[in-house]
Amino acid sequence: MSAIEKKPVFKPNKEFAKTARIKNMCEYQDLQDEATEDYEGFWGRFAKEKLDWIEPFTNVMDESKFPFVKWFEGGKLNVSAQCIDRHLDTRKNKAAIIFEGDRGDKQIVTYLELYYNVNRFANLLKNEFGVKKGDRVVIYMPMIPEAAYAMLACARIGAIHSIVFGGFSAEALKDRIEDADAKVVITADGAYRKDKPYMLKPVVDAALEGDTPVKKVLVVERNNEDITWVAGRDYSYNELIKSQEVHCEPEVMDSEDPLFLLYTSGSTGKPKGVQHNSAGYILWAQMTMEWVFDVKENDTYWCTADVGWITGHTYIVYGPLAMGATTVMFEGVPTYPDAGRPWKMVEEYKINQFYTAPTAIRVLHKMGENEPAKYDLSSLKVLGTVGEPIDPPAWKWYYEEVGNSKCAIVDTYWQTETGGHIVSPLPGATPIKPACATFPVPGIMAEVLDPETGEKVGAGESGYMCVTRPWPSMIRGVWGDEERFVKSYFGDVKKDGKPVYFTGDGANYDEDGYITITGRTDDVINVSGHRMGTAEVEAAIKKHSNVAEVAVVGKPHELKGEGIFAYVVLKSDKGVADEVEEVKAINNIIKKEIGNIAICDDMVFAPGLPKTRSGKIMRRILRSIAKGESITQDISTLEDPSIVEKIENMVKSK
Ligand code: WT7
Repeated sequence: MSAIEKKPVFKPNKEFAKTARIKNMCEYQDLQDEATEDYEGFWGRFAKEKLDWIEPFTNVMDESKFPFVKWFEGGKLNVSAQCIDRHLDTRKNKAAIIFEGDRGDKQIVTYLELYYNVNRFANLLKNEFGVKKGDRVVIYMPMIPEAAYAMLACARIGAIHSIVFGGFSAEALKDRIEDADAKVVITADGAYRKDKPYMLKPVVDAALEGDTPVKKVLVVERNNEDITWVAGRDYSYNELIKSQEVHCEPEVMDSEDPLFLLYTSGSTGKPKGVQHNSAGYILWAQMTMEWVFDVKENDTYWCTADVGWITGHTYIVYGPLAMGATTVMFEGVPTYPDAGRPWKMVEEYKINQFYTAPTAIRVLHKMGENEPAKYDLSSLKVLGTVGEPIDPPAWKWYYEEVGNSKCAIVDTYWQTETGGHIVSPLPGATPIKPACATFPVPGIMAEVLDPETGEKVGAGESGYMCVTRPWPSMIRGVWGDEERFVKSYFGDVKKDGKPVYFTGDGANYDEDGYITITGRTDDVINVSGHRMGTAEVEAAIKKHSNVAEVAVVGKPHELKGEGIFAYVVLKSDKGVADEVEEVKAINNIIKKEIGNIAICDDMVFAPGLPKTRSGKIMRRILRSIAKGESITQDISTLEDPSIVEKIENMVKSK
């Protein structure tokens, strides 16, 4: 048993706990016991309580075809109606979305306005573009309210949206459009970043060159810069929306009808289209909003993510709106005009729950250590983090300077595939420890298992973060690839002989049973909280005509969490004429194939790669070299052991 460092414990704020939905660990345990004793009873109860059914479900869960699981069969509902219509009686004039643009422009959208905007948008898609239930619609948008309208409009008419993050390149967008076989793209001319316009529509134009399944493109005019319009294909949202009716009957959807696809990186090959379905997803989005952020009727909640990632889906749009909360949407970057921007916004909107990523906290800490003190942050009650393990110094600053040592920090652990949080503190109940995701959220059977035996690991032992029973918001499939779905998530760990969901992350328990996530066990790296498959980056680099071989690994990075380190073997053995130029050329290819987020932080031109005699690249060795660690593995069985020292020397002399 390895010794684990003892972390300090911070008890929940007593005043806060008094009115929290889950007030103490006894209440937490009661819920977890209820789920353990009668799993279907537990979920059936909440599905009835939390959702408005057009027709009630007849069966809570069918796992007879595991891992293909169905939830709430027989039930009929519409997710956009969950998020909008059902609030109109009591909240029609409540702010649903508070938008702040990069340049400080503001917009408050009430639930009634949201209803009109989404209905008009839905009618536009249905009547002008012929979008029908089950059609795929790709959304490539900046962070403006129209992005949320687009999602909800798709949900309203039963179309399956697939959002592609605005930082992805034309090539990456094209791949996702083709894989999803989308017939419509919704985009914007562009938006603003750091007071300057940037463009999205030209990326869409490039992605649609040549053969494409896309017939129509809807363009929201946000920055009014010049763009190209293709006649018969491209239409202005601002024009078409004017004449749309403000009522659109929501499509009656089955619980298991798909709601959206979201592409994410895996350890091998191309990104996979993670599929989420209607009822289970929206149920857990709402329940976790209520339990983990404890948002109250008059609260203002802000999640700084982008709708291009799952965090934006569940915790900017679907979760907050399903519970009838006020959600803040921000177009800009947190450090512009200075690193006090988020705190200025917290003061101005009296934000009560603030949710961001460790990478943003590190940047805000580094660039604006004393900024929080300049603002009145007393409205804050809950602070959240997500996306990667948070490091203790960042946690401390967040807790003390932003939260004034009185706010709970919820270190929420989850993934694109889990739909919502699976391991997280509850702000009124869980005594928190820095940088620790703590316990499973009630209802989720999350366990750290030994991959060999399938047994729960003991305190201090490392194991695999698994979920041993299906849950409502779990991934329903990888779009168009059943085999990949089964292999990616249910292949590695078995408990009692049966495959269980494996997240891809390593984790451990401490002596109090607290779960700490230690990071990916596969070839996925986490760059600024964004998942990047090493295989994807390698495939891009290989497109350079002079590259013979490449291996990409993650390396700890001060701000990004992990950076990308590439070992490149060139075809010509003449060496590199101009290293700087070569690095630039390779990064340009990465920019074109994936986007700026995948640009390498380090690159060395190696004489070869450490491989086993069967030709397998020893990435573990490369990871150690990148970190500057001494090599502890046995390298005598390598095809060419001398390569290790050569690469080590190159990296050291860099
Ligand atoms: C991966 C999922 C979940 C929304 C954003 C990212 C890492 C996520 C934590 C956390 C440590 C975390 C894991 C996970 N991760 N949250 N609180 N502590 N690691 O979604 O792109 O699907 O990435 O992010 O490695 O597998 P994603």
